[in-house]
Amino acid sequence: MELTRTHAFRGELSVPGDKSISHRGIMFGAISNGLTEVTNFLQGADCLSTISCFRQLGISIENDGSKVLVHGRGLHGLSAPSQILDVGNSGTTLRLISGILAGQRFQATLNGDASIRKRPMKRIFTPLSEMGARFQCWDSGCFPEHRKKTSSDCAPLTIQGGTLKRIHYYPPIASAQVKSAVLLAGLYGDGITKVTEPVLSRNHTELMLSGFGADVLSTDTTAAVWPEPKLEGQSIHVPGDISSAAYFIALGLICPHAEILVKNVGVNPTRSGILKTALAMGGNVTLLDQRTVSGEPVADILVSSSSLHGTVVEGDMIPTLIDELPVIAVMAAFAEGTTMIKDAQELKVKESDRIATVTENLKAMGADVTPTGDGMVIRGGKALHGAHIRTYGDHRVAMAFAVAGVNADGRTTFDEEGCVTVSYPGFFEDIRRLGE
Ligand code: S3P
Repeated sequence: MELTRTHAFRGELSVPGDKSISHRGIMFGAISNGLTEVTNFLQGADCLSTISCFRQLGISIENDGSKVLVHGRGLHGLSAPSQILDVGNSGTTLRLISGILAGQRFQATLNGDASIRKRPMKRIFTPLSEMGARFQCWDSGCFPEHRKKTSSDCAPLTIQGGTLKRIHYYPPIASAQVKSAVLLAGLYGDGITKVTEPVLSRNHTELMLSGFGADVLSTDTTAAVWPEPKLEGQSIHVPGDISSAAYFIALGLICPHAEILVKNVGVNPTRSGILKTALAMGGNVTLLDQRTVSGEPVADILVSSSSLHGTVVEGDMIPTLIDELPVIAVMAAFAEGTTMIKDAQELKVKESDRIATVTENLKAMGADVTPTGDGMVIRGGKALHGAHIRTYGDHRVAMAFAVAGVNADGRTTFDEEGCVTVSYPGFFEDIRRLGE
């Protein structure tokens, strides 16, 4: 793949379905009674991993490449897998499925790719163990031939589920994956389970579980779930993923000759920090036709060429744009003045260490950037030049630097860009189609 400066970007597009919502549609459908239909499902590698895991747990799932039919078997209808569950690159699959498996009377072993085997799981072991589940991690060096126990907190790992106690958990970090794992385990608890976060993270689990018939109460940063609900299959239309729209929002703002309309994007306030940040940077961003689809706020997003300036991204804002920070860093490099990203230590434990991988690639393109312990400082406005991008297998790094590459002098190449299939299989086709 080679990208060069593209004069203009114009037109409209629909980005693929939301990754977080697609995962949850399969999972919640599997533990509900009857049929769940998920349309505009994200056919990305991560969500396909979720389908394959639930098939191994005895759930029949039909996928025609767009619509997915999940034949749910109820809260207690999963069966023990005969093989190791492979979550691929997907942290959401691993952490959310663990919450469900914590409530099952069988054992299951989970593994994934090299990135997953480095990602911290103690954050879910702590609350789920307190509820009564048991975890064992295995040394990945000789796994699965030999199972050597380790005290690490990463996959491969085995979960022994069973009878669970209710808890009120106060996670030290805002994480929708942790919150969701605890709430899902809470469906199997002996009373009301609550999670109080330091800052509210994305609330798709609360919204969708309640749509399936669970009793869920959200107050400020606390979510509470009642045990043993009667979940009934639903029809869910997945909105476009704002995390995928983010690349085209950035592109439309950075490129001097651009007007892009991204249609049908989920704009849930717990996810839409990119829009606030773009406005704070002086971006021309307009939301059109705001509406609600399957319980989630949706809009069309119109962006056009803008003179961007630096900003500060910090605090409560971080969970609302955590996955967009690589492309926000790219926007900052094209903006006049300094942008500071703070309170974003979580970037270090994503699909790659995104503080390291984003600063490395920005520097390679000639940007003035300094990594910090919890983010980065970008002094924008220097003309960027093409470079060889090292993605570290991280889809969001690849896409963020494609946006930089089509706005830089010279050629931009990638060591491996196939990782975009994790969340946006047609990304490079879409960027080419809109370019003139
Ligand atoms: C997700 C939550 C976020 C996000 C991830 C998807 C989810 O992770 O980065 O891409 O679907 O719940 P954390 O919960 O670790 O912040």
